[in-house]
Amino acid sequence: MSERAGLRAEAGARAASQAQAREREVRAPINVAVAGAAGRMGEAVCAAVSAAEDMSLVAKADPLLGSTVSDALRRKPDVLVDFTRPGSAVANAIECVKAGVHVVIGTTGFDLEPLKRECARSGSANVFIAPNFAVGAVLMMRFAAEAAMHMEAAEIIELHHESKLDAPSGTAARTAQLIAQVTGRSEPPIHSVRLPGLLAHQEVILGALGQTLTIRHDSLDRRSFMPGVLLAIRAVRSLSVSPLVGLEHILFRETDEREQRM
Ligand SMILES: NC(=O)c1ccc[n+]([C@@H]2O[C@H](COP(=O)([O-])OP(=O)(O)OC[C@H]3O[C@@H](n4cnc5c(N)ncnc54)[C@H](O)[C@@H]3O)[C@@H](O)[C@H]2O)c1
Repeated sequence: MSERAGLRAEAGARAASQAQAREREVRAPINVAVAGAAGRMGEAVCAAVSAAEDMSLVAKADPLLGSTVSDALRRKPDVLVDFTRPGSAVANAIECVKAGVHVVIGTTGFDLEPLKRECARSGSANVFIAPNFAVGAVLMMRFAAEAAMHMEAAEIIELHHESKLDAPSGTAARTAQLIAQVTGRSEPPIHSVRLPGLLAHQEVILGALGQTLTIRHDSLDRRSFMPGVLLAIRAVRSLSVSPLVGLEHILFRETDEREQRM
């Protein structure tokens, strides 16, 4: 074999082995740890991850289970999902990013700035945050922002179960932000209701001369959040921006890509 043919064969073998490694990486299950695993959302996430064919639940962290996020990191997860408390989510995420582990945060009601600083410092792991993982809620926010461009004013009513710690909800705050961004007006007022019997609900009422438009979303079961959580676990490793806030960035990226292929 000539020298050039030998080099070509070597390059071909190298490309084939790289392709095989990529395929193995794609097919290997995503190892997932859950922080807040004994909580209402954490339990639902553990069940959803265990049922997902492409994921493996490798660790559960929760003081109620006697295990910490540091314990969970020793099980070498690819991604840690955090549904804990506003006071612990940032510290948990920073610990993960420092260890090179990607993070999906569902916890609401914390300040994002310290996490932004940490992500800028240690660039090897991504953080994805969504104030609401329910696909219907993401659509509600998008439709409300679009409607607000054509109506004079809006107000937001968010209704949650009585144990929710933060008010206003992360979803309501994000909706108000989006409406302010697209209209150039100040953020609309938010009214918070906390009552037993509720889970997670939001109405955006838009008003104009002689008419109102109400856009409402209801999460009736915690399972409503799980398809969004699984989507985020699959996407967090390949984000080009971190931290990234809002399921819409993943959801509509997938829809846009599908439309482009059609
Ligand atoms: N993003 C969404 O779609 C969405 C949906 C529902 C709820 N939430 C938010 O998720 C969070 C959790 O909600 P919940 O109803 O499951 O609360 P919960 O009180 O039932 O559960 C929180 C759990 O976190 C555990 N915990 C506390 N500190 C911890 C730490 N440092 N490390 C690990 N675990 C820790 C607690 O022991 C508890 O078991 C809240 O902030 C809530 O607002 C978000």
